[in-house]
Amino acid sequence: MANHKTLDDLFGQGPLTGKHVLVRADLNVPVNEAGDVSDATRLERLLPTLKDLSAKGAKIGILSHFGRPKGERKPEMSLKPIAAALSDLLGSPVSFAEDCIGLAAGDALSALSDGGIVVLENTRFHPGEEKNDKEFAEAVAANAEIYVNDAFSAAHRAHGSTEGIAHLLPAFAGRAMEQELDALGKALGEPERPVVAIVGGAKISTKLDLLGNLVAKVDALVIGGGMANTFLAAQGVNVGKSLCEHDLADTAREIMGKADAAGCTIILPTDAVVAAEFKAHAASQTVPIDAVPEDQMILDVGTDTLATLAGHFETAKTVVWNGPLGAFEVEPFNVGTDTAARHVAMLTKMGTMVSVAGGGDTVAALNGAGAADDFSYVSTAGGAFLEWLEGKTLPGVAALENG
Ligand code: 3PG
Repeated sequence: MANHKTLDDLFGQGPLTGKHVLVRADLNVPVNEAGDVSDATRLERLLPTLKDLSAKGAKIGILSHFGRPKGERKPEMSLKPIAAALSDLLGSPVSFAEDCIGLAAGDALSALSDGGIVVLENTRFHPGEEKNDKEFAEAVAANAEIYVNDAFSAAHRAHGSTEGIAHLLPAFAGRAMEQELDALGKALGEPERPVVAIVGGAKISTKLDLLGNLVAKVDALVIGGGMANTFLAAQGVNVGKSLCEHDLADTAREIMGKADAAGCTIILPTDAVVAAEFKAHAASQTVPIDAVPEDQMILDVGTDTLATLAGHFETAKTVVWNGPLGAFEVEPFNVGTDTAARHVAMLTKMGTMVSVAGGGDTVAALNGAGAADDFSYVSTAGGAFLEWLEGKTLPGVAALENG
């Protein structure tokens, strides 16, 4: 499906020894209060690209944003500590340059030995980055001969270092970018059917485009979390004091109509775990969906619903997952999400399906369930994964395709 050039294409074009290669990475990793990286997944996924380029003798400058400094130099959003974490992971030195443009960047790149790596300071310290300003992109590009984009999770941003620069230098997709696009293509490009999508989360208002796109593409759509309540209420179910967007009842009915016309089965909870308050270990009970007490709220799916989901998983060939089924952050309302996630993980391990998941909450939920490692693919992307599922063009990917 892809029109972009890969590292193998680059390596086929001749020696890279001593050439300056800029790699757009996503070093926007979570850090704890002590400033240590608390989840290194994005750094780990970057290693194949760095190792391959390094082995070919390229001088590698890493471009990335970190946080949202809004065009100002903010010391707490410096990439310097992340360069150190990357060096630890690689087991070899990674230097740091105080700027991503100008002499600071150019000299740091030139000073590298062949195969060396330098992290260039946060691209978002420059206002031109987010404006996708041509002059800024030209200043970044001026220090290199080749551009590699390995940051799928930032590809929904049309910024200087993700989009603009790809038009100024020969541009290639890195290994992690390629892997993301392949995995997502398998899940929704030409997937093996039946395809079951699970969409959860608090509100349908934030996922309207996603629901609209998915009903046209998948065989069954499981709706969970707070957003299921809006669909239930639109069908006349009394959801008590559950989170619910009553004003979106018409929209929910429209989506159900679209699903019907497309032959997509919408699966809503048939029973629910309810409680009077949203707190850990609150007194809870499982009730049929038409018996939610007026003074209680739905916080998870019940066992009947899980049995229905299990039936769909048993026959599914592809599962795409974005969003938890219940209030998974708070015990015992994680049980529905955990049970479903472990089932999908087990079937994937047995080889009966391909499973792809992504989005910040989703990855946290799958990790909490101990299921993430057995999914076929877990995307490192939050917003980009969602926009991709919505069927939107990602500017960072599109720019590679033109290159
Ligand atoms: C992410 O963490 O999803 C990416 O790094 C993009 O960050 P942003 O939402 O600040 O553009």
